[in-house]
Amino acid sequence: MSFSTRSMLRASRVANFSAVSRVAAPSNAVRFFSATRAVRVSDTANKKSVVREKEVPVTVYGAGEGAHQTLQVPDGAAKVPYDSPVPAEREEVEPLNKKVYDQLPHTVKSMTVQDKVIIITGGARGLGNHMARACAEAGAKAIIIFDANQELGDASAAELHQKSGLPVSFFKVDVRDGAAINAAVDSVVEIYGAPDVLVNAAGIADSNIKAETYDPAMFRRLIDINLTGSFLMAQSVGRAMMAAGKPGSLILVASMSGSIVNYPQEQSCYNASKAGVIQFAKSIAAEWAKYKIRDRLGAVDELNGLCVFLASDSSSFMTGSNVIIDGGYSCY
Ligand SMILES: NC(=O)c1ccc[n+]([C@@H]2O[C@H](COP(=O)([O-])OP(=O)(O)OC[C@H]3O[C@@H](n4cnc5c(N)ncnc54)[C@H](O)[C@@H]3O)[C@@H](O)[C@H]2O)c1
Repeated sequence: MSFSTRSMLRASRVANFSAVSRVAAPSNAVRFFSATRAVRVSDTANKKSVVREKEVPVTVYGAGEGAHQTLQVPDGAAKVPYDSPVPAEREEVEPLNKKVYDQLPHTVKSMTVQDKVIIITGGARGLGNHMARACAEAGAKAIIIFDANQELGDASAAELHQKSGLPVSFFKVDVRDGAAINAAVDSVVEIYGAPDVLVNAAGIADSNIKAETYDPAMFRRLIDINLTGSFLMAQSVGRAMMAAGKPGSLILVASMSGSIVNYPQEQSCYNASKAGVIQFAKSIAAEWAKYKIRDRLGAVDELNGLCVFLASDSSSFMTGSNVIIDGGYSCY
């Protein structure tokens, strides 16, 4: 999500189809990484470059007494598997209970959303709904769905509550309606406390409409939902976080179409809207940095979460991505 996905804002990341822009809320606990400049690490022990070895010495601990072996390196390029089946959708939701959470090692704990209040727009169906389920499984305290579709929203919230046992609320909110958003966010603060996370997934595509015949009214409508909606949601939730002095993340779902033209689909308006979302996320990240969002050296441990995420099955739809972790440095 460039799942672009984070002080108030930190990095944006673009992964393949569901680009997410993530922005961290103003916080004195906002994390900051730089892949290239800002992390203290110990000196490299061995800078000697290896061009091509025929044999690799191996020492194995744990499967026999420090057994020494020699691995023969074959000539020729490895075969790369290329076509893999798409994993089936999961129906069940297994919430992370407190007892299990307490027993997790530190690294795994740090990758949960334990006790966080999470607002998800567009959570009535599609990606937003699946992200809501994932947050429920990752320890959320409460899930709040904002969506324009009353029927689907109610049904999805009821289902998620029934499957997870978590408090789940549905607010019929159109992300173009600033006043309704503010009222709904105020109500969330009253019921659950200030939100920790916003996932803005509400959006429309209007795909396959030629630019030369695109109705200007439709163009404005899409920009209003995808881009202005991102702004209104980030503004409202950002204000609630600032007022509570609470660390948090604003995650704006963009698209790979915000960085590339998804040819041959004719969707100039969608592509432009998502490019706007990515740049908007960077802009508020830079602007809200004054709320103690840092530009500092990263600690060694602040790269671990991404490392584990990329190593895990959670990142199974990412490949060839360049994920920037720099505490917002590259935003401005
Ligand atoms: N599906 C993809 O392949 C893909 C790829 C990249 C990015 N995205 C982005 O991910 C997000 C979700 O996509 P999806 O495919 O799950 O869409 P979807 O159409 O399945 O779901 C979108 C949800 O947003 C809600 N919504 C639409 N307009 C709204 C408005 N004005 N106010 C409030 N709610 C509104 C809808 O009711 C619906 O529940 C979108 O922002 C989309 O651009 C999707």
